Amino acid sequence: MERIYRDADVSLDPLKGQTLAVIGYGIQGKAQAANARDSGCTVIVGTRPPTESKSRAQATADGFDAMDIADATQKADVLLIELADPVQPSIYKKDIAPHLRAGQTLCFCHGFSILYGSIVPPKDVNVVLYVPNAPGAFVRAKYQKGEGVYGCVSVDHDATGNAREIVLAIVRAFWSIRAGVVEMTFQHETEGDNFEEQILYGGAIHLMRACFNTMVDNGYPPSFAYAKAIRSLRSVIDVMDEGGIENYLTGGCSRTCEFAVRTRGPRVINEGEIRKIFAETEAGIFARDWMQEFALGMPQLHRLRRTAANSAMERTGNDWRRDFGK
Ligand SMILES: NC(=O)c1ccc[n+]([C@@H]2O[C@H](COP(=O)([O-])OP(=O)(O)OC[C@H]3O[C@@H](n4cnc5c(N)ncnc54)[C@H](OP(=O)(O)O)[C@@H]3O)[C@@H](O)[C@H]2O)c1
Repeated sequence: MERIYRDADVSLDPLKGQTLAVIGYGIQGKAQAANARDSGCTVIVGTRPPTESKSRAQATADGFDAMDIADATQKADVLLIELADPVQPSIYKKDIAPHLRAGQTLCFCHGFSILYGSIVPPKDVNVVLYVPNAPGAFVRAKYQKGEGVYGCVSVDHDATGNAREIVLAIVRAFWSIRAGVVEMTFQHETEGDNFEEQILYGGAIHLMRACFNTMVDNGYPPSFAYAKAIRSLRSVIDVMDEGGIENYLTGGCSRTCEFAVRTRGPRVINEGEIRKIFAETEAGIFARDWMQEFALGMPQLHRLRRTAANSAMERTGNDWRRDFGK
């Protein structure tokens, strides 16, 4: 059974008279700070010192009272942890933990640091989670249109007795509640997100590359292979999301396409491998590998990036956008 919260279930009251500190003013922090302020909340921003921070000047230019993270922690009732995940543990240890006081709320936007124990908050603060299912710019654009973004909430530790009411008020301030939010655990949010990144982004990107490379290796014009490998998908994904996959297959594409999808698609997908990756994710193997990679300075990523940046597909994509439009 899913527990879905909507407008009628939620009040902004728990945030009345409270100061929200958005810690980290990046992709999500910028959007969430703006949404909360426009909803009438008192919002301050905490970043690294101006000499180190890429976003302090932007936060100030956007009209926020921006300060060092330690100062924001002291002034806040609710801290929204919007720092990049791998840097959260060290910044938490140095600038947040020493200044926490009983009754504050730590609201995360991803469960990774809590689930894997790289942040262990004291027992007298609330630990909650709110994650919109979209990038920050989309979250902000939806808010400005008076709409919300589906998301999830979780309470990992309720120190004050009203942690759920507080996180739902946060969701209301960000307006996700207009679309609805589902309650889940930190574990499912974290592992579900990591699973999706491996399967959906990992699978789709490598599928597009395999499609492009196979056609080019067999003599097709690169611009045609690129159009087939990326543009075709882009043009139909919204149609499938808005009307349903079956409506698309029976009414939105040709019968040849429908036959190709239903009979050949399953051959392309290795469901056994997908389930293996799911099991590895649940066993913490992906998290362990990623934490190790980050701690070592991301050697694998640097090497893989170098190869990919010079690939025929990337070069064709650059030409394609120039020659045929974005
Ligand atoms: N991106 C999304 O759309 C999205 C969606 C759902 C959930 N989330 C979650 O939201 C949280 C924030 O993610 P984000 O994508 O918004 O983060 P981000 O934009 O990549 O980074 C946020 C801030 O983290 C600081 N930071 C980044 N790299 C750093 C480094 N090497 N050392 C020290 N500080 C560093 C930066 O601070 P300065 O500006 O001060 O340099 C930056 O503004 C994460 O928990 C993420 O999982 C993100």
